[in-house]
Amino acid sequence: MKFRFLVLLLSLAAPLFASREKPVIGLSLDTLKEERWQRDRDTFIDEAKKLGATVIVQSANSDDTRQVRDVESLISRHVDVLVIVPHNGAAMTRAVKSANDAKIPVIAYDRLILNANIDYYLTFDNVKVGEAQGSYAAARLPKDRTARIVRIYGAPTDHNAKLFKLGQDNVLNPLIKAGKVEVVHEDWALDWKPENAKKIMNAAVTKAGRNIDAVVVSNDGTAGGAIQALQEDGLAGKVLVTGQDADLAACQRILRGTQAMTVYKPLKNLAALAARVAVEVASGKKPATTAALDNGSKQVPSIFEKIVTVDKDNLQSTVVADGFHQAEALR
Ligand code: BGC
Repeated sequence: MKFRFLVLLLSLAAPLFASREKPVIGLSLDTLKEERWQRDRDTFIDEAKKLGATVIVQSANSDDTRQVRDVESLISRHVDVLVIVPHNGAAMTRAVKSANDAKIPVIAYDRLILNANIDYYLTFDNVKVGEAQGSYAAARLPKDRTARIVRIYGAPTDHNAKLFKLGQDNVLNPLIKAGKVEVVHEDWALDWKPENAKKIMNAAVTKAGRNIDAVVVSNDGTAGGAIQALQEDGLAGKVLVTGQDADLAACQRILRGTQAMTVYKPLKNLAALAARVAVEVASGKKPATTAALDNGSKQVPSIFEKIVTVDKDNLQSTVVADGFHQAEALR
């Protein structure tokens, strides 16, 4: 009993003894629901360990109040640096202020935190993700008549969801203006939940009928929801559906033909980069960056990792060749 108490006490106290050589990183995640975030977390922890750091992970289950509390608790445990994937890039501003007051540097991971004094932003090019989705669909739409599409955006609380839409708009808006494409239904899937995407797709078919050429969906989880709805109507495989993340289930759907494409984001590159940057920042160094992005409060030093468009033709040479999924898992 006494021993267990001592272990508990020591583990709680560990961050208090953090040192620059053995930094403690606080990783605050919005969610672990989508497969990708579990990979992000695992790679991040592995890489941080290799660099001599310890990681304390918190996941907020898509709840802003909880995530603010998570970050405050990491601050009170005196972590050396915070890495945050915000559920809501605007709601996290307050928590970042607390980190600033405690002089703990903050790295925004994959999603930007708006109007806040953050130190780094490490991400994929989210506008390019949207452009990849839009142009994949656009290239395959019927050209002899006005194509009819449904658009399912991500969580309205996620700044990335707006960037994906912006990228899609860059490609689709000129076609819409020219009368070549008609958006027959569009909506935002709250919290990126597949069941919300399914409802949107059901509503689209009820409103616009079965005559739909493509559903431009912003990620694989919500694509899965939309495809379920299409399946119920006997339309799966007949309507082009886009996605993002190269989730295992999505790659399987691509092989089966119910989803046309996904956007592969090599998470190991981003997670390993973030671990390196976090350790350097914790050691008082200034990691090199390649871009700067305005978050409403400052030009945030940023790095954008590359993305890859994936469909059945290059699934093996990208996702499988990279070891992201095993060939056997895709059979
Ligand atoms: C990420 C996507 C992810 C989505 C839902 C976005 O911010 O960029 O990769 O699918 O959140 O978690």
